[in-house]
Amino acid sequence: MTSPAHVAIIMDGNGRWAKARGLPRLAGHRAGVEALRNTVRAAPGLGISFLTVYAFSSENWSRPKSEVSDLMGLLKIFIRRDLAELHQNGVRVRIIGDRAGLQPDIRSLLEEAETLTVRNDALTLVIAFNYGGRDEIVRTARKLAAAVARGELDSEAITAESFAGSLDTQGIPDPELVIRTSGELRLSNFLLWQAAYSELVFLPCFWPDFSREHLADALRDFAGRERRFGGLGAEDVPVTAKG
Ligand code: FPP
Repeated sequence: MTSPAHVAIIMDGNGRWAKARGLPRLAGHRAGVEALRNTVRAAPGLGISFLTVYAFSSENWSRPKSEVSDLMGLLKIFIRRDLAELHQNGVRVRIIGDRAGLQPDIRSLLEEAETLTVRNDALTLVIAFNYGGRDEIVRTARKLAAAVARGELDSEAITAESFAGSLDTQGIPDPELVIRTSGELRLSNFLLWQAAYSELVFLPCFWPDFSREHLADALRDFAGRERRFGGLGAEDVPVTAKG
């Protein structure tokens, strides 16, 4: 079975997982971090080279202040506690999203994680933090427009490929598979450019319950899909065209 090189996950349902147990939402997010840890450990063995996770969206600022601060705190704890293990296991950490909107201490922690792990190649863990797909596209358009205004870039030279190469995800292949837990059937502003041809798998389980088996099942589901990228399926290509 061919595994997708890049799997992206919308880790949804922490709050409902906690509510179902009569626990505060923070307990759900904490259990979500544990599920993330287990997923990172499982990914290389399943043939995955890039794993992107949606940890904090540009729209999550509208949550109560205390929950926003809990999520910031969990990111800090995750980087501080797990960085050594990630590095030891050959995991490269990359962050996508608008760093300018984050507190300086979080920004420097994220930079430290990226710098320490830059040469690792067992798995690239891409953490989407203060990330929104539209925001990423707008920031990229501004960056290119500024280069055009300075006379450093010819607007005619902007292509889909060069645009993709200027996004936060530069150098990272598009995800072949996007998984969302908790039964919601939306992309919610996640990787809007990069997921143009991704296969989507929606799972009913809440994120804290997500396990290696769920991931392996999603990969099996993916392996049974026919990816056409706007062209024809193998069965539909005229015999002459097949050569
Ligand atoms: C969605 O659940 C989840 C989030 C908004 C945050 C995801 C965060 C984690 C898994 C933990 C933090 C990870 C890091 C790396 C710090 P929800 O709160 O929207 O759940 P609900 O829809 O059931 O309310």
